[in-house]
Amino acid sequence: TPAETTPAKKVLLAAPRGYCAGVDRAVVTVEKALELYGAPVYVRKQIVHNKHVVQTLERRGAIFVDETDEVPEGATVIFSAHGVAPVVHEEAAARSLKTIDATCPLVTKVHREAVRFADEDYDILLIGHEGHEEVVGTAGEAPDHVTLVDGPDDVDNVTVRDPEKVVWLSQTTLSVDETMETVDRLKQRFPALQSPPSDDICYATQNRQLAVKKMAKDTDLMIVVGSRNSSNSVRLVEVALEHGARAGHLVDYADELDEAWLEGVSTVGVTSGASVPEVLVRDVLTWLAERGYADVEAVVAAEETLLFSLPTELRRDLKARK
Ligand code: F3S
Repeated sequence: TPAETTPAKKVLLAAPRGYCAGVDRAVVTVEKALELYGAPVYVRKQIVHNKHVVQTLERRGAIFVDETDEVPEGATVIFSAHGVAPVVHEEAAARSLKTIDATCPLVTKVHREAVRFADEDYDILLIGHEGHEEVVGTAGEAPDHVTLVDGPDDVDNVTVRDPEKVVWLSQTTLSVDETMETVDRLKQRFPALQSPPSDDICYATQNRQLAVKKMAKDTDLMIVVGSRNSSNSVRLVEVALEHGARAGHLVDYADELDEAWLEGVSTVGVTSGASVPEVLVRDVLTWLAERGYADVEAVVAAEETLLFSLPTELRRDLKARK
């Protein structure tokens, strides 16, 4: 009978997936600020790179702006999880804005490294994606010392003042493997190149990639839930394809899924980027279950327990309100 020849349909569900500690903190920051100060609360840039999160907060009274000059004088503005350059703090102060900084502490860590190496007059090679808000923020800590290196193919374009005094740092949400390739090529050019004191690619990015690597070769179709401008989500599709998944797609919502993708597919891998609420993954699993992929098996690469406390400015106001 056909049932015997057709391989069983199943889903491999990556763990960890979805919200990291920095995203959770940033989203809760906007929610609490709305409760505490009332709408509207201004947010500079998307608080996290997820369409659903931004639209949900917008409905609750958050106003997303590109720059602080769009925020009325004296109002409250929240800085996104991706971090800001010092000049943005100065601009906000000049307009008497009340600021709440939701920069992920692991991004702040990279900012501190940039400041420290710039103080010691190093040339800093910042590996990251041109134009991404996080690298704009990090580079802004030491614009005279930072050179952006956008992947392995960009290495040949790099020039430094003193090849004996060079360090590399990186964006937190890159592909681990591609970054190592970039570093190897940089080391060929600059053998004295120093490495960051600790990993700049964050634990959440690393763990989500590890889980995808673990399941990719058994996966006919990989579905990554996440937005197009989410660096870590886009990387998950790439990592899946590099490690043997036969197809891979990034979707914001279950209604973007296409039945044609399921043709001849027995195993579907599912994961989500660090800015993605679990409800969106549930919708994808429901859609798959309705099409015969109801059997779900977890593929666990790591346990995550990290939590960050809310920004100091907000904690102080929350305490005063009690
Ligand atoms: Fe922070 Fe990494 Fe999340 S840098 S915001 S923990 S993806």
